[in-house]
Amino acid sequence: MTLDRLLFEQYWHLGCHRRELANDGDFVKFDGVLGEVVLFNDNGEIVAFDNTCPHRGARIYSDAHGNRPATCSYHGWTYKHGTIIVPEKERFKSCELDRARFNTFQVDWCGDFVFFAIKPRSGLYEQLGRTAELLENISFNVDQRLDLNRYNYECYWPLAVENALEPYHIAAVHSETLATLELGDGENVFDEMNSIWYAPLGNTRLANQLARLRKLFNIDYQYGGYMSIYIFPFTMISSTYGYSYSLQNFFPAAQGQGLTHFTSRLYASNTLNDNAARMLDTFFESTVRMNRKVFEEDHEICKLLPKESWSTNALRFPSDAEVKIDHFRQSCRAVGETSEAVLHQIQTSIDEATSLQATSTVD
Ligand code: FES
Ligand SMILES: [Fe+2]
Repeated sequence: MTLDRLLFEQYWHLGCHRRELANDGDFVKFDGVLGEVVLFNDNGEIVAFDNTCPHRGARIYSDAHGNRPATCSYHGWTYKHGTIIVPEKERFKSCELDRARFNTFQVDWCGDFVFFAIKPRSGLYEQLGRTAELLENISFNVDQRLDLNRYNYECYWPLAVENALEPYHIAAVHSETLATLELGDGENVFDEMNSIWYAPLGNTRLANQLARLRKLFNIDYQYGGYMSIYIFPFTMISSTYGYSYSLQNFFPAAQGQGLTHFTSRLYASNTLNDNAARMLDTFFESTVRMNRKVFEEDHEICKLLPKESWSTNALRFPSDAEVKIDHFRQSCRAVGETSEAVLHQIQTSIDEATSLQATSTVD
C-alpha cells in the first residue's frame, strides 16, 4: 500500500466543526485518495460514509456541503436512522436485501471538532496526544463557518503540507499578505507527530490594533500572536489572536499522486454580542479575503514543485525555520517502517504456516 493510502486509511482526519452539521440532513464532503467521504447528520447523529449507494454505486451527494436527506437520486434508496429505506421493496425477491449496507467509517469528537477514520491504528486521543486539549479549547471558541474554499493544488500533498509547515517562504511568497505581520522566529512545540508554531507579531502597530479587538469577543482561549498547528498527517489550523481559525485539509488525490485536494474553512470565534458581531463584519470580510489570497500564493508556488522533489530523507540544507519539515519527514518514515514491519510479520507467519503445511503433507 502506498504511503498516501496508508495515511488516509489508518489515521484520524479532522473534518469540520459541530456547527457545520447542526441540523438533520446537513452534510459536508471530502475527496481523498481512497474516494469520497461524507459527514452527515442522520437525525442528530453524525455518520461518515463513502458517498456510494450500495444499490448500484451512484454517488449520493455531488456538492461540497449542504442540507438534504441521504437519498440516492437514481432509484431512491435512502440512508436514515442508521438503516436503508428501499422503495418498492417487494420487487427484490431474489436477493437478501437486508444485507445491503452503506459503507460507513468511524467518527469521533475532540471537543466540537469531528474527526473521521477508515481503519485507524489508534484511538483519536492517542493520535492527538497533548494537542487534543488545545483543539478542544479552540473548538469551544468557534462560533460559525465564514468561508469554505476548495480546489485542487497542482502538486503532491507532502509538498503542500511542507510549504504550510515552514515560515521561511513568507518573505518571498507572501510579501504583501502574511509578511505584513512581521512574524518573529517564535517557538516550535513538537508533540508526537503533531507540531505547533507560536510566533509573536513584529508589527507592533498591528499587534496593538488586534489586541484592542479582544473586548469584542467572548473567548476563553487566545494565543496573542500567530499560531499554526499541524495535525498529522493532512491538517493545519492557523490563527492570529484567536479571533478566527483557518482549518486546512491537504488530502492526497487518487490520480497520479500529482494533485492535492485542498479545502480551507475559516471559522469566526464567538463574539460578545450582536452589536460586536456587526462591528466585526469588515474585519471578518478582510480576514476571508486575506486567507484566500495567502492560499492562492501558496498554490502558485507549490505548482513549481515537481513530485520528484519530495522524499522522506532529511533536508540537505535546512534553515532553522524548516525544522518542522524534518519532523514531518521523520513521521512519514516511521509510518512506512511500521507498516513494513507489520507486512514482514504477516509474511513470516504465512511462510511459517506454509512450511508447516508442507511438513505435515510430507508426514
Ligand atoms: S444506485 Fe442508488 S438507488 Fe439505485
Ligand atoms: Fe505560505
